Order: sequence, then C-alpha cells, then structure tokens
Amino acid sequence: MKSLMMQGTQILATGSAVPDFSLSNEQISQIVETSNEWILTRTGIKKRRILTGTHQSIIDLAVVAALKALNKIAMDASEIDLIILATSSPNDLFGSASQIQAKIKANNAVAFDLTAACSGFVLGMITASQFLQNGSYKTVLVIGADTLSKWVNWSDRSTCILFGDGAGAMILQSCSKLDNQILGFQLNTDGNYCNHLSLLYEEEINPHPILNLYQGSFKYISMNGKEVYKFAVSQVPLSILKCLNSLNIDVNDIDWLLLHQANDRILTAVADKLSIDTNKIIMNLNKYGNTSAASIPLALDEALEQKKISNNDLIVISGFGAGLTWGTAIIKWKY
Ligand code: ACO
Repeated sequence: MKSLMMQGTQILATGSAVPDFSLSNEQISQIVETSNEWILTRTGIKKRRILTGTHQSIIDLAVVAALKALNKIAMDASEIDLIILATSSPNDLFGSASQIQAKIKANNAVAFDLTAACSGFVLGMITASQFLQNGSYKTVLVIGADTLSKWVNWSDRSTCILFGDGAGAMILQSCSKLDNQILGFQLNTDGNYCNHLSLLYEEEINPHPILNLYQGSFKYISMNGKEVYKFAVSQVPLSILKCLNSLNIDVNDIDWLLLHQANDRILTAVADKLSIDTNKIIMNLNKYGNTSAASIPLALDEALEQKKISNNDLIVISGFGAGLTWGTAIIKWKY
C-alpha cells in the first residue's frame, strides 16, 4: 500500500540488546530429548540468549537497545514524541512501554504497547510511519522486544528449542517526501488460523466460591509447527510480491531480504520462491534463535554494524507469525 503521504519517514538509528546467558543446543539436549543435529538441521539454530536470574526483565533489554540507538546519533530522549513497544511478553499486561519511557527519561513521549507476536516490529514501524507522515509527531522510537523463554514449556521439545530473548530499537523521524525511506507496505491477518500458534489465557476449572466467575492465567506457547511452516512459506512471498508490484519495483532490484528470523529453512524457501539469491538473505538466527518481535531489528542492527548495507540499498522486510499476521515493508536505506 502507498501511504497518503504528506511527509516522508527517515530511519535515524538502530540499537539492540540480548541477555548475557547463551544456551546451546547441547545444553537443551540435557533438558529435553533432542540433539544438536536435529535442531540444527530442522531450524539452523545453534544457540539462543536467555534472560536468567530474577533481576532482569524485558524492560532492561528494551532500555539498553533504545539507549544504544539514541547514543549513535547523540539524541536526547526528550526529543522523542512517541514510543511503540512491540511485544507479546510484557512484564505488565496494562502496558510496558511506559516503564521504558520513564527509564530512558523520554519525558515528552506518549508510549504504548503493540501486540502482534513475530510481526510486531513490522506493524510497529508502519504504525510509527503513519504518525510521522501525517505530521502528528516528529520523532518516534519503535522497539521490538520479547522474552519468550518465560512463556515456553521447557518440557515441550517442539517449542523450547526455537525461541530466544532479545530487543531491537529503531528511531524514526519525519522528513521531506524526497528523503522518504519507507517506500511501501503490505499487511495481512487471518484469525481463522489463530490456533496454529498461541499463548492462551486459560481459566481454572472451579469458579469463585460466591461469584460465578472463572479466573485463570496465561500458560505456555502452543504451536502446530508444520502448519506455521506451510503458512510462512506460502504467504510471505505473496506479500512481498504484492508490495513490490504496488511500487513497480522488480524483485531483481532487491539488495537484501530481511525476514523474521524463525527458521533458516523458511528463509531460504521464501528466497527460492522469489528467485532471490540466498546471499541476499540477512540471517543471524543461528546465534539468537527466534526472538519474535525483536528478530528483525536485531538482525538489521547487526547487519548495519557489520557494514553489509550500503547507501540506497533496497531492503525487503517481512514479519510473520501468530495471529496469524504477516506483512512486508520495503525500505530504501540512506546514511
Ligand atoms: N528434537 C527431536 N525430535 C523432535 C523435536 C526435537 N526438538 N521436536 C519434534 N521432534 C520429533 C517429533 O516428535 C516427530 O516425531 P515422530 O515422527 O516420531 O512423531 C518428528 O520429530 C517430526 O516432528 P515435526 O513436528 O513433524 O518436525 P518438523 O520437520 O515439522 O520440524 C519444526 C519441526 C522445526 C518446528 C518445523 O515444523 C518448523 O520449523 N515450523 C515452523 C515453526 C516456526 O518457525 N514457528 C515460529 C514462527 S512464528 C513465530 O515466530 C512466533
């Protein structure tokens, strides 16, 4: 979709953070019946970072990622007008973005959470760009952060091998239309398949003794891996093609394919379907696993640190996951 743009969106800086503790496939094979060979061949994941201990939370990771991005451009946090925290593992269901606002001292920013699992960062970035392009705000901080290690069942080998914790941040600012970097987007949801991947609120069996009220809690991630795999490999290429077509961009002109870091087989299958050279795939899931909303900004930040991305490179960014929700944004990188 092309926005009704009054102004453009510029990406000023990125930052990222992961916990110190690294959990290898070998270590997981001491917890559940699995092996390094099984995990590596099925997913491409070698290790993941896990938030251990009691004194750290998703907020700490998000704050470090945000401060790194701010420091890169020597920006004071008081310049931020809006903070969007894309997460599905907040430490407060009423919203965690406000805690980040307070900790980084972004005293002029309004802050809210956005829940869309592994598509959260793409949706957050597009939401931010709407506020910037219609002139409501000048500077927005978008953070994708998840700590799914706290929500997986560590005795379920089909899910606990996949996820890791992390946070990635991006600072966006309004600019003239000529300097616009977010060229277009394409977003989708199909709630008919929400059961393929969920983290459900479950009620207790017995109601409150006086009120006919059932209370409960959120349990563990449940996933139909095969269906999620088929969905990603079939729908993500279509979303990318629709987005490229709406902008009259040829797939051969794409410099980088930056997909949600779920599984190396999904990433290469999407590239193959689009006839995109696998050298153009940005991939770091071998080190971090699937970090959900954090995976795209984490991989982007690392690719920028490694100076992979050049001025005017075209980057296709696609997120996909629970909802089911998926979507694409096409970015022209400018330094
Ligand atoms: N170690 C060893 N064996 C395992 C493991 C494990 N960790 N997990 C499952 N198995 C077994 C199963 O029990 C099954 O055994 P069986 O044949 O005796 O019944 C066998 O391996 C095959 O299981 P499948 O589930 O069919 O394995 P599959 O080849 O589909 O691979 C995987 C599983 C890796 C999860 C794959 O389906 C996949 O990648 N799906 C996409 C998942 C994903 O990316 N989810 C996240 C995306 S969205 C988001 O990020 C939130």
